[in-house]
Amino acid sequence: MQPAHENLLADLRLSLRPGRRQDANGLRALVGGILQSYGLPDSVARDGDLDDVAVWYGSRHGVFDVLVDSSGALVGCCGACGRSQTVCELRRLYLAYKVRHRGLGRVLLHRVVDWARARGFETMELFTAPVLKEAVQLYERFGFARQAQTAAEGTVCDLHFSLTLRKSGD
Ligand SMILES: CC(C)(COP(=O)(O)OP(=O)(O)OC[C@H]1O[C@@H](n2cnc3c(N)ncnc32)[C@H](O)[C@@H]1OP(=O)(O)O)[C@@H](O)C(=O)NCCC(=O)NCCS
Repeated sequence: MQPAHENLLADLRLSLRPGRRQDANGLRALVGGILQSYGLPDSVARDGDLDDVAVWYGSRHGVFDVLVDSSGALVGCCGACGRSQTVCELRRLYLAYKVRHRGLGRVLLHRVVDWARARGFETMELFTAPVLKEAVQLYERFGFARQAQTAAEGTVCDLHFSLTLRKSGD
């Protein structure tokens, strides 16, 4: 992580650590609560990945970190998993309202993109919902491009974004 990022976390008395199975309840509460605040079904928070992020992401060539405050309370998360040898998917970038608007979203995104590049992935994809406007703006300003293809019908996360991490053969 770049020093500026470390300073920001230290200033806010926050730290990042790998997610673990014991975080399941905290993650479901964090993600489910945020989804509900946008009028989205919290069932998305009950997708199997949060039951044991270490196993789910670890078994998919992925990574999953949680952001905790000085009391150990979970205030954010961010993960990615491999979809193929060259494509990975950004998942679960969520921050509790009280830690937003300080640059942390961009820090977590930079961090996971750096991780993906270092792992040799060429493309990062993500699916999100149009109502998650802050995230949509973050992704677009970061350089993610909207894709025409949408996710399976019936899912709320039907906005598909893609970021080229490096050209094939680089
Ligand atoms: C998306 C999210 C992680 C951004 O976190 P954050 O720490 O507040 O964002 P930052 O302070 O790093 O700001 C980064 C960019 O996000 C966007 N953003 C942040 N707050 C915004 C707001 N209120 N309105 C519009 N865009 C906003 C901007 O593009 C901003 O860049 P800018 O400052 O150059 O305009 C946070 O808003 C969040 O957790 N949202 C709910 C969960 C979510 O939607 N997750 C995505 C699931 S796919």
